[in-house]
Amino acid sequence: MTDSDFAVAQVVFEDVYKSFPTRKGDRTSALAPVESIQVDPTPTDTTPQPKTQPDMMTVLRRINLTVEEGEFMVLVGPSGCGKSTLLRLIAGLEDLTGGNIWIGDRKINHLPPKARDIAMVFQSYALYPHMSVYNNLAFGLRRTQSQRIPKRRSPLVVMRNGCESGLVAATRLLPKPLRYRSKREKWIEQQVQQVAEVLQIESLLDRLPKQLSGGQKQRVALGRAMARDPQVFLMDEPLSNLDAKLRTQTRAQIVKLQRQLGTTTVYVTHDQTEAMTMGDRIAVMNAGQIQQISSPLELYNRPANRFVAQFIGSPPMNFIPVQVKTSRRLYHPQFSLNLPEVWSTLLQPYQGQTLTLGIRPEHLDLASQDPCHIPAEVELVEALGHETYLSLHLNHGSDEREPLIVRINPYQQVTVGEQLWFSVQLDKIHLFDNRTEVALRPNA
Ligand SMILES: Nc1ncnc2c1ncn2[C@@H]1O[C@H](COP(=O)(O)OP(=O)(O)OP(=O)(O)O)[C@@H](O)[C@H]1O
Ligand SMILES: [Mg+2]
Repeated sequence: MTDSDFAVAQVVFEDVYKSFPTRKGDRTSALAPVESIQVDPTPTDTTPQPKTQPDMMTVLRRINLTVEEGEFMVLVGPSGCGKSTLLRLIAGLEDLTGGNIWIGDRKINHLPPKARDIAMVFQSYALYPHMSVYNNLAFGLRRTQSQRIPKRRSPLVVMRNGCESGLVAATRLLPKPLRYRSKREKWIEQQVQQVAEVLQIESLLDRLPKQLSGGQKQRVALGRAMARDPQVFLMDEPLSNLDAKLRTQTRAQIVKLQRQLGTTTVYVTHDQTEAMTMGDRIAVMNAGQIQQISSPLELYNRPANRFVAQFIGSPPMNFIPVQVKTSRRLYHPQFSLNLPEVWSTLLQPYQGQTLTLGIRPEHLDLASQDPCHIPAEVELVEALGHETYLSLHLNHGSDEREPLIVRINPYQQVTVGEQLWFSVQLDKIHLFDNRTEVALRPNA
């Protein structure tokens, strides 16, 4: 075995497209809303795009993404945006319509799945029912191991392996301490123990899958992929069958194990909390396109467009339409805001136009009555113990369907129906162009 067999690899998507044939009667188009928002952060429009056939539906469009060596990259986005399809393209379970995918220095467009050196965990796990947890974990490891053994072997090695497998077979039925374990089997045992320890399934190693709970089975499935030590891990919503507490625990265990192994990982979820807590970087997807690729905090603090702003953060950002009165003054029928100097150049061309003001729930503070403060009536009080969220009705002119959400100190007494005023933390606001939905960025 050479060092390069275990090298961690970069995964590169280069102008990747994927179309599926539309089925008769299927009127849903995954890409319908995309044309109205010009949000791609790295446009490469000069690249020739594959021609879309009339009976084909494009579900991934112009995907350019580099997952660095050893990086934990999360793909997040709403249901149907193309996350699983992207993962299946890396795994070789779907064919590309256009573009290239590289793992390390190998272009894998046409490589069969088993030659790609990846391990994938699906939402619906499948364990070998007749094998113990130990053997389920060791199974992939044995296969991967033997694939990696150099092709040319000396007659001595062949003879030794032959003797060893004979000894293993002959002693298999003896009590555990008396069984013969080859050097390779000892190595496998070490790997299995390490993974089992991190996933806290050591006590389950002798059980059969039918003797496990759903959550335990899920962790064995995860362990089986991780123990294989592939060049790339692909995980498609692997925690969705777990209850909330186990989900949080297993989330941390996956991150810990990934850091220990240093294996390049692409992890798919539609859960923004999972994305924020697990990813080194996150690629936010919508309707077949990548909207933004950034670190979790960068996404939260500097969303590139309104889609990312509303998708990342829970409860989500508030959006309020405002008119640009002067280059430093925003007007709403209920309040007006005087912005810091940094905005003036940027807002100059927008004078008289309407923009969307974005404010996160924690960037509004209870304040006195004032023309610069937002007046709103309390509709709901959600006390979570460590923090309280107010759901409020903003009088006139706002997007009436959406309540204003504000986070307040849990010790603050507030009652439903009460009229309150909120000051805005002006250095934390976001403004979005109403036509393109792109965020305006002042030169701070
Ligand atoms: N084999 C297929 N044939 C036709 N359309 C498909 C096929 N597989 C996926 N699609 C379509 O491609 C789009 C993206 O599907 P995909 O499974 O990648 O979404 P997803 O982001 O993983 O969603 P979810 O979060 O619900 O799992 C969907 O509109 C889906 O209906
Ligand atoms: Mg999916």
